[in-house]
Amino acid sequence: MNEQSAQITPGEKTTGLLQPMQATRRGLLKGVLGAISAFGLGSILYAIYRFLAPGAGGGGPVEISMSEISAAGTAFFQYGGSPGILIRGEDGALKAFSLVCTHMACTVTWNGEKKEFYCPCHDGFFDGEGRVLSGPPPAPLERWKVEVKGDKVIIGAA
Ligand code: FES
Repeated sequence: MNEQSAQITPGEKTTGLLQPMQATRRGLLKGVLGAISAFGLGSILYAIYRFLAPGAGGGGPVEISMSEISAAGTAFFQYGGSPGILIRGEDGALKAFSLVCTHMACTVTWNGEKKEFYCPCHDGFFDGEGRVLSGPPPAPLERWKVEVKGDKVIIGAA
């Protein structure tokens, strides 16, 4: 075998087995990039849908027993695929909020003493009504409807 026939220089046209293999790799790469792009677009559209449709994501209303509310006046739950908190105020009023930060979807924490939410990702603060106090969050925390029926608290009821 001649040594020159096994070497391919840049710009040189190739023949034989190498071209179909390059075409296959290129096609595979295009397919993978297309799938990644479609997944990314799907994720963005789903995030927009979730933002515009409170409680979206399935599951229906959440029911919590009054006895599940802690001495600190809180109960945690999942609603529509998002973590949430039920807060009983000093006046006894119940409020339910998503714990998903409106900036980049980190989970916020509730400080019962200060009566405010804190997002540790970028130092976002929300007041006890979910309104932005400071930091980069562009919107208040999502607030869900609360209905009391006897000993039950129903969150997200229409
Ligand atoms: S994700 Fe909450 S402040 Fe950025």
